[in-house]
Amino acid sequence: MIKKFLDLGKQPIANRFLSSSEQFKDEYFFNLEVGFDEDTKLVSLLQQPNKEQMFNNEYPYRSSGSETMRKHFQMIAKDIKEHFDPKLVLEIGSNDGVFLKNFEKIGYRHKAISVEPCSNFAKETRKLGFQTYSEFWNDQTAENILASHGQPDVIYSSNCACHVSDVDDFLRCAKGIITDSGVIIIEDPSMEFVLQDNAYSQFYDEHAHIFSIMSLKNILEKNGLQIFKVETLPYIHGGSKRIFAQKKEKGTQLISLSVYDELARERRLGLDHFSTYEQFAERVEKNKNKIIELLTRYKNENKKIIAYGATSKSTTEFNYCNIESELIDYIVDTTSEKIGKFSPGKHIPIISYEKGWNDSIDVSYLSAWNYKCEIMRKEKEYLLRGGKFILPMGNVEVI
Ligand code: TMP
Repeated sequence: MIKKFLDLGKQPIANRFLSSSEQFKDEYFFNLEVGFDEDTKLVSLLQQPNKEQMFNNEYPYRSSGSETMRKHFQMIAKDIKEHFDPKLVLEIGSNDGVFLKNFEKIGYRHKAISVEPCSNFAKETRKLGFQTYSEFWNDQTAENILASHGQPDVIYSSNCACHVSDVDDFLRCAKGIITDSGVIIIEDPSMEFVLQDNAYSQFYDEHAHIFSIMSLKNILEKNGLQIFKVETLPYIHGGSKRIFAQKKEKGTQLISLSVYDELARERRLGLDHFSTYEQFAERVEKNKNKIIELLTRYKNENKKIIAYGATSKSTTEFNYCNIESELIDYIVDTTSEKIGKFSPGKHIPIISYEKGWNDSIDVSYLSAWNYKCEIMRKEKEYLLRGGKFILPMGNVEVI
């Protein structure tokens, strides 16, 4: 049974940045509510917009938009080569090719193919020479790949499985195509980090689920798969976990201690109890009140406040906390697809970093809080001249 614990109100499509004010009146909104499944322990949105509304040829989020992510994908490509020496790697959800690109450097160009439903990005990876299926991941796509390329022995999917409403189907199709001793590597934002950091803005339209290891274990087992290793990625998407899985009956990898450790820790933290999620919802409400109070105080002191990063997560934050351009003058961002547009729902203007980041700013709402370390390193001068960053997650901090 699925029990609701969080209501984040009416929310728009998190990554649909609007080009002009004419689009404001027709903007799509849905109720962002989150529930806990008592049987599988999975945390999911109660309602998700159609996948075509979210993932289409105008999808603006570039995985290569930060140094953190570029390095991350370099490292995992190298690890896959070293540990599994695959004959064929299939990436599900390849975005702009930030992972695939590394296979060229390590002499694996013809050993990596991908699936990416956003055709603007699929075009880019094809240009780089990687066969890319511009389709959603399903039986038909799996069949087409099998017919043309044979069975992959590694499937890698980063920040994608959690986007898929029918996660059983996602896993069933992956199991259906992989070799018997093949490995499925999935990494997504982690429920443990969400609870630890009050990171309620991990919930937005695209994140149909936020996985715990125990929920993934339950779902994988239902589909004849088994986790054999877990890695923690604290700097990726606000805190992620990477799981390595194999066929339960045929897999050849030994089960690492990391699996038992993770499950034991999650039980200690209460991730299997509804009350843990109810308490989280109470903290989220407090976080909202605190952030509004803080922004209002700075505004009354005539401080110039902007936001740093037009992130999908900040769509949830701004809409849930009702933060509009009366409080935040504009958002700076480096992504060309977002510059000159307006944020979803609250319509705060987005301007380029070059134009918008200057000495007149007193306070920056760190909407790209998941890149805190990278941004703090980059913005030392701003901090030294007395500029402040508001960290919206956790207990709300000012740096
Ligand atoms: P995300 O949180 O949805 O991944 O989006 C991150 C956004 O933040 C993306 O649009 C790029 C932007 N960004 C900057 O503008 N400057 C930066 O230094 C970093 C790290 C990200």
